Order: sequence, then C-alpha cells, then structure tokens
Amino acid sequence: MPDWEVVGSSGAWLHLVDGRRVFDGSSGLLCANVGQGSPKVLSRIEEQFAKYSYGGAAVVQPHIQMELMDRLCRAVGRPDDSVALTTCGTLGVEVAVGLARNITRVRDRKRRGDILTSSLSYHGMSALTLGLAGNHARRPRPEDALGLGPAFSPPYPPTHPHSTGACDASCADVEIAHAIDNIGAENVSAVLIEPVNGSTGGAYVPPAGYLRRVSEICREREVLVIHDEVLTGLWRTGTPLASDHWDGAEPDLCILSKGLGAGYTGVGAVLVSPEIAPLIRHKNADPLPAMGTMATHPLQAAACLGVLDELESMDTEAFQARGERLRAGLQALTGLPSVRDVRGLGFLYGVELASGLLWPLMEETEKHDVFFYPFTGAGDPRSEGLVVAPPLTSTDEDIDFMVTALTAAVTTLARRC
Ligand SMILES: Cc1ncc(COP(=O)(O)O)c(C=O)c1O
Repeated sequence: MPDWEVVGSSGAWLHLVDGRRVFDGSSGLLCANVGQGSPKVLSRIEEQFAKYSYGGAAVVQPHIQMELMDRLCRAVGRPDDSVALTTCGTLGVEVAVGLARNITRVRDRKRRGDILTSSLSYHGMSALTLGLAGNHARRPRPEDALGLGPAFSPPYPPTHPHSTGACDASCADVEIAHAIDNIGAENVSAVLIEPVNGSTGGAYVPPAGYLRRVSEICREREVLVIHDEVLTGLWRTGTPLASDHWDGAEPDLCILSKGLGAGYTGVGAVLVSPEIAPLIRHKNADPLPAMGTMATHPLQAAACLGVLDELESMDTEAFQARGERLRAGLQALTGLPSVRDVRGLGFLYGVELASGLLWPLMEETEKHDVFFYPFTGAGDPRSEGLVVAPPLTSTDEDIDFMVTALTAAVTTLARRC
C-alpha cells in the first residue's frame, strides 16, 4: 500500500509533497464521492459554524437535522420514511438491528432476535457487526464472535456452487428461505444484506429478481429486510439506492453512510419505512436503541446538506454517460490474461485478477499515478482484485486518465503471465 504525503487536493486528485498528482480511484475508503475541497460543503459548514457549533438535540431545536432527514429521504425516493442519524456506518447497522428487533417483537410478541447475514458480507467493526458478518479477513475468533455468524451463502458462484448453470433468483429460496425456516421464523427479526456487494467480494451484482425474491420470502415469514447501503447508497451504483436497479427490491430499513458524509464528516442514517416506523413508538415497544452524543451534530448535518447540494446539482445525463464511459473502459480489460472478471454497476466495479497478481498490480498502478482499493474476497482460494470506485463528480478526462493508467498497468502485468 502507498504511503503518500499529501499536501493538497482537487476533485479526485491528491497532490503529493514531491509535486506528483495521484488520481484516487478508490474515493478514499469509497466515501469521498463528491471529491475533495467542495465549495458547497464548505459554505454549508461555515454557515452553521457561524450560528452554533454544538447544542445537542435536548437543548436546541434540531432544525438542521430535520432539514437533513427530510432532504435525504426525498433524495433517495423514500419521502415518507423516518430517520435515525448516527456517527458512522457501523452504528447505523447497530441501530437498524435494534430497531428491527423492537419492531418485529412489538408486532407479534415473539422472540424475534436473530439477524441473518450472508457469508460474503461486511457490516462494520463493532463486536456485534463483526460477529454477524462473513468477511473472512475480519471475522473474530469463534470464542469472541458472541455466538454469531453468517447464515446463508450469497448468489455468487464462488460462494454458492451449482452443479449446473449460474446463480439466479431461486438461490434466495435455496439459501435464505431455508435458513429462516431452519431457525424458525418466530426467532428471526431480519435479513441484513448488501444489495450489491461492496469491498468484500469486489462489486458482485445479484442476479435479476434475487432481491425481490428475498423480500417476498421475508414478507411471507414476517421477517424484515434491512439493506446495508453504507457503501452503495447515494448514487455510487448510478442510482440513489442500489436497490433501485430492480423492481420490488425496496427494503423495510436501509442504512446509508459513506456517500452521505462523502468523507467530510462521519455519519450514518437509518431509514425506516412508514409501514413499520409507528411501531417503534408503540406503547409496548422496548426502549429505543438510538442517539449518541455526536449523532445529531449540527456541523455533521451541515456537511451532509452540502454533499446533497453537490449530488443533486450533478447533470444526470452527463453523470450516466460518465458511468457508461467507465463501464466500457473497464470491460475492455476482460480479454487480458491477467483479468478474470469485470463486474459492477454505475461507479462501483470489481476487476478480478488471476491469482497472485493483486499486490504486483497495486505497485504497478502506483507507478502510473493512480490508486485503487484491493479486495481479497470470495471462494477458496480467495478471489482477489481491485475495487474501482472513482468520485461520482470525476470528469470525462479523469475517467479516461484512470482507465488508461489501469489498462497500462494491467497490460504490463499480462506480459508477465
Ligand atoms: C457495507 C458496509 N457496511 C458497514 C460498514 C461500516 O461503516 P463504517 O466504517 O463507517 O463504520 C462498511 C464500511 O466499509 C461497509 O462497507
């Protein structure tokens, strides 16, 4: 991994102390989605700073947080949702789990404690979320996993082998319906899933109809669906939410984070659908698991509003054309002997490499003044490759530079294959 001393930045570019400019094809940790140094974000923060920098929701009226919640829900096409704000993605997942348990318990008075997750997943770095998720590199020792672990295989061939054919929507029946029925639906609160796999597997996209089938299976069993869109939310996959790519895929709860703060602030947001949100306030409901000291920080809300200003002022057609330009550029890599697969959507791609090439390619891309996030994800032996995720506000020239640099680095490596 590089160890660059950064002395400046502009858009997707980092300016190094030695005068070089490096293109960040990873958007930081897949969060600096509107690039560095946004004047819109700065002006929102300055405006709020001049009013007051911290009050706490118990002391001052949370106008700016209310404005953010309302604006966010409309931006992602869920205008009637309720929102809980947190300081990061992990806490968003924690709060979503707590809310799902409360909601399902008050609804039918059963145990409803279990949260089912996929064996190819990452949901954060708390004890609970690490215990729940399947990410092999981050799983705690069995004795430290709180008795938790993933419950089903995702619909991607390396983790879900088929004797014939590829994965399809019926994988949800084979895996998720089976897992819920095995445990007993009365014990299950929710299925927690990344609608498009992020950095664990390297941008795997589920087969058509899969997420709809997951929702149907859960609804039939009165189990909630939580989408972890910490990484994919807010246009990373080309649409406001990754689930927008498929009909009938809307979840009951949805967690947003990285793209909302865009690297300017830590933040998480849990969106709860209007059908179930009133149950949180039901007289028999358990105490709310929400709110920390910094969860409703006014400067956080201001930064997020600035990010939404950036995202909503993007020229939609040009944005989609840029996504297409990126897709076409990366697809052209598929013929090279060092590349096993190129997959993804919008501004989130995985370039899977032949075994053993990841770290040499990381070095080679560095020589071409570009950086990508590595993945070592699925299957046995583990697949490996680069997550390609430039800022959504990259220019056409930026995308061309990045794709040309990556192609040159991969071609150099292919000669060694
Ligand atoms: C899908 C997903 N969920 C949750 C998290 C945790 O978010 P955070 O690092 O902000 O706590 C991440 C972080 O990478 C993520 O990719």
